[in-house]
Amino acid sequence: MLKGKKIIIGITGSISAYKIPYLVRLFIKEAAFVKVVMTQNAKQFVSPITLSTLSKNPVIIKHFNTEGEKYNNHIELAKWADLIIIAPASANTLSKMANGIADNILLTTYLAAKCPVYIAPAMNVNMLNHPTIQSNIKKLQSFGNIIIKSPEGELANGLIAEGRLEEPENIIEIIKKDLKRKGSFTGEKVMVTSGPTYENIDPVRFIGNYSSGLMGFSLAEELANRGAKVTLITGPGNIKIYNSSISRIDVLSAEQMYNACIENFPLSDIAIMSAAVADYTPEKTEKNKIKKKQSSINLKLKPTKDILAELGRNKRENQILIGFALETDNEIENARKKLKSKNLDFIVLNSLNDKGAGFKLKTNKITIIDKFDNVKSFSLKTKIEVARDIVDNIAELL
Ligand code: CTP
Repeated sequence: MLKGKKIIIGITGSISAYKIPYLVRLFIKEAAFVKVVMTQNAKQFVSPITLSTLSKNPVIIKHFNTEGEKYNNHIELAKWADLIIIAPASANTLSKMANGIADNILLTTYLAAKCPVYIAPAMNVNMLNHPTIQSNIKKLQSFGNIIIKSPEGELANGLIAEGRLEEPENIIEIIKKDLKRKGSFTGEKVMVTSGPTYENIDPVRFIGNYSSGLMGFSLAEELANRGAKVTLITGPGNIKIYNSSISRIDVLSAEQMYNACIENFPLSDIAIMSAAVADYTPEKTEKNKIKKKQSSINLKLKPTKDILAELGRNKRENQILIGFALETDNEIENARKKLKSKNLDFIVLNSLNDKGAGFKLKTNKITIIDKFDNVKSFSLKTKIEVARDIVDNIAELL
């Protein structure tokens, strides 16, 4: 899998840099081509001579070498690479990467690269758990970078708990597994819905809900990162798309979302309906702002169309349809009913009884129930990780 792959190993200033010559050797043993780029501080921990001997290439530390006769071009380097692994990634480098700072050749190469990037942090545990570093790690993940953490570094409440560099053998295994994953949706067309819908009452008021759209956006990013062609149909919200290959369709009301879905579903291999669509909409949207009166007023609502049920009715044999259910009681039973009545391949259940799961939060706790009645419960995770679990589950159906 790594044979013939061109790999940049970026080393930064951390004591665990001593493990990197071994990592270089492992890549070379896999018949990969390796170029080492290191920061000035990294030189204090590991010798460039060792690294250049093992990698069979000169080590790159600066844009210009001391004599000034050679220019190391970061654009060329970035184009050359099939993948980049930053190991160990210090707090300093990791934070610069998350914020677009470009004051050395490792950072300029990272910014110019379009290939997959893996980051193996190594630092004191208090530094790693500092909110700034945790937030920078989340940022890097949302850009599609893969964070390689040590086994004890299991995400607990979305936080990485340990600071130690992952062992070189495991780094290689994680990269191999991820590369396999990355190609797994190539050629698949996926439609994802996300966010709330707004049902207008008059020109200034609407009925809405607290959905942020984060779950749907995380799903879209994860699928695009694995090679899928994603169309994201989203209600109002302020989440940005990072993967430029995602096509985004903005809608406001349940009716608009219905129309966009009906148009796009026949062109899709997979549809994931994570939007929180309004079940009711005002019978009539007033043209003018409703004036305040002394007496109470009645707002008459009519049901919206159930988009998911409609797609379930039109689903072709080879299409995969996934729904979400947000329940407060009899969760599994209700989710099972929705799975059947809407003709789904699987349903993702969020229970409002689970602490940390829900609309306004960055974390979620899900249960997946499939059409063969397999029930899989997951622990509380960030929505990015939940997206990964859901997409892993879809990959099993391909
Ligand atoms: N959904 C939809 N169109 C609607 C309402 C919901 O496509 N008009 C989809 C949601 O995107 C979600 C699933 O249906 O994937 C379940 O939504 P939920 O509101 O939990 O279920 P409902 O079918 O609306 O049932 P109830 O409100 O009675 O629980």
